[in-house]
Amino acid sequence: MRQQIVAGNWKMNKNFDEGVELTRGILEKVEKPQGLVILCTPFPHLRDVGKMIKVRKNFHLGAQNMHHEEKGAFTGEVSADMLASVGVEFVIVGHSERRLYNKEKNQLLAQKVNVTLAKGMRPIFCCGEPLHIREVDTHVGYVSKQLKAGLFHLREEDFRKVVIAYEPIWAIGTGRTASSAQAQEMHAAIRILISRKYGKAVADETTILYGGSVTPATAEELFSQPDVDGGLVGGASLKPDDFAAIVAAMK
Ligand code: 13P
Repeated sequence: MRQQIVAGNWKMNKNFDEGVELTRGILEKVEKPQGLVILCTPFPHLRDVGKMIKVRKNFHLGAQNMHHEEKGAFTGEVSADMLASVGVEFVIVGHSERRLYNKEKNQLLAQKVNVTLAKGMRPIFCCGEPLHIREVDTHVGYVSKQLKAGLFHLREEDFRKVVIAYEPIWAIGTGRTASSAQAQEMHAAIRILISRKYGKAVADETTILYGGSVTPATAEELFSQPDVDGGLVGGASLKPDDFAAIVAAMK
């Protein structure tokens, strides 16, 4: 069975006390989620948020990034082992903001995927095209390259642990959501690619999330698409009422 997931990516928002408050609000508002709820908090919040959500069924802890090397002289960096040791279960890898601002390339992302899995965590691997690629209608090929370079080196057993998030860059933080038809088109294309590489059974079981200005107003229609298995939510994950409404839209 394919897992339905709504993950909140807080990005660089909320100081520690505000993060605890937000978690409290989310725990209060979200009732019996149909699928998994993942809170991807900033690093300093992880351990405490993890403790707060541990008692609640279907809640999981996620990080937004980590370093690709296992350990060593990398001042200021955080390793996969460190994350796993405070209870992190999912790690966002290859978010478009990191690809853009931190120049993270596919080869490096493949390494991050490997380290995440090696420490028993599951990558939420992000892909998605910029506007100029969408405008010339080469978005499927663009995303296909990202997946091949970042994920398709994995053995089937490891690939099955990966969650994919399709986040068209032009829809992130812009208030411009992809239409449900645009999301479905890409999600179906991604599933076909997976099927070609790992077979239909694996493709059918892979969770593919949509991200990019998901709101309570758009979530239900997006999630009702056959190949959209939930969302990776930025702005709306910072508001307990909105986030709870998006969680409630899971099918
Ligand atoms: P928004 O929901 O704010 O557009 O952000 C999407 C995103 O980047 C989630 O990772």
